Amino acid sequence: MWAGRRVVLGVSGGIACYKSCTIARRLTEAGAQVDVILTRGAAEFVGRPTFEALTGRPVIGSLWEPGTALSHVRLGQDAALVLVAPATAHLIARMTQGVADDFLTTLLLAATSPVLLAPAMNDEMYAHPQTQANLTRLRARGVNVVGPETGALAEGPSERPGRMSEPETILAHAARAGRTKGPLAGRRVVVSAGPTRESIDPIRVVTNRSSGKMGYRVAEAAWERGADVVLIAGPTALPPPVGVRVLRVETTKQLEESVRTELSGADVLVMAAAPADFRPSEPSNQKRARSDGVLTMAMEPTDDILSATRAQRRPGSIMVGFALETGDALAKGRAKLERKELDLIVINDALEPGAGFDVDTNRVVLLDRQGAERVLPLQSKREVAEAILDAVERALDR
Ligand code: CTP
Repeated sequence: MWAGRRVVLGVSGGIACYKSCTIARRLTEAGAQVDVILTRGAAEFVGRPTFEALTGRPVIGSLWEPGTALSHVRLGQDAALVLVAPATAHLIARMTQGVADDFLTTLLLAATSPVLLAPAMNDEMYAHPQTQANLTRLRARGVNVVGPETGALAEGPSERPGRMSEPETILAHAARAGRTKGPLAGRRVVVSAGPTRESIDPIRVVTNRSSGKMGYRVAEAAWERGADVVLIAGPTALPPPVGVRVLRVETTKQLEESVRTELSGADVLVMAAAPADFRPSEPSNQKRARSDGVLTMAMEPTDDILSATRAQRRPGSIMVGFALETGDALAKGRAKLERKELDLIVINDALEPGAGFDVDTNRVVLLDRQGAERVLPLQSKREVAEAILDAVERALDR
């Protein structure tokens, strides 16, 4: 989303400045044109050459530099986003009061682009009623705020917030704040991801090779598009996506219950989970000993969640399913779209290199109810997630 777009990165003077270097780097790598503005305090912590090398652009440190005469106004109006990280207590106080006594605060006073602050300060400063009141006022004016979080501060460990959020968290909030609002903004999106597990005995389970990566990337991308996202996740070791509410489930039955509950408020369901299709009919409550010899186990089918929860769908909501097949994927996927009454199905072949379970890439075909078929190239699961959400947005628009 950043390719060819402008971002202003304002840096005020706190030790968290060292993390701003990573933010500048990541945005530049993502294709953004990043204009870094340092306050006097920030320049004491990290020098201009560092940011100039990271962004490949001149860094602004004062209103009186030659060539910057009007840029204090223009930069905050042309940018996709004005991000201030770290935003110190002092910067936040000046911004609340409309003080314009250096380049960054002058730009902020004239800014019409979306603004995101990442506060960082001592925990007492953050807890101070004046700082809290300042942030409340800024939020009421439409300023976005990420963090601060609890964790180690420069003065030592603290149980209270003050520490600036990590760059990856700030970047996810930046993507959400800097994106032009589309049909998914403000919508309720439910995503299921990962495998399920069915007990054989208290120790052993039946499961499958799903990693959950595809569903996690869809949840992350939907949140960045402004949606309110619930991720119903089977057992996976993946870190929770920023901003997303995660509900943990283990069995297909639990997944079904969560889908049923969440579906009634959902505008979109993306069913990326790979629920176990069979479970042991009579799981043992004692560990089965190896000395018992050959194990023969009866398995019973689980419910098909998409079909079993059909009655909970809201009129006009968009249902997306997946079909991971081995051979003749397109025909099988088309049949599943019909049988499960879906708006869109994401079809892939598990045997194709770079596609399917546990890899970071996928090669899929998107098929919608109108019969439109889109063959996508091999790409990252995040890119596939974006393509799926583009198709969901088109369906919401119809
Ligand atoms: N699915 C579901 N409930 C299940 C199994 C699958 O809702 N018990 C959903 C999956 O999340 C996916 C879609 O149905 O979005 C297709 O899953 P898949 O395993 O390919 O389909 P099955 O219905 O299991 O069909 P089959 O095993 O016969 O290919």
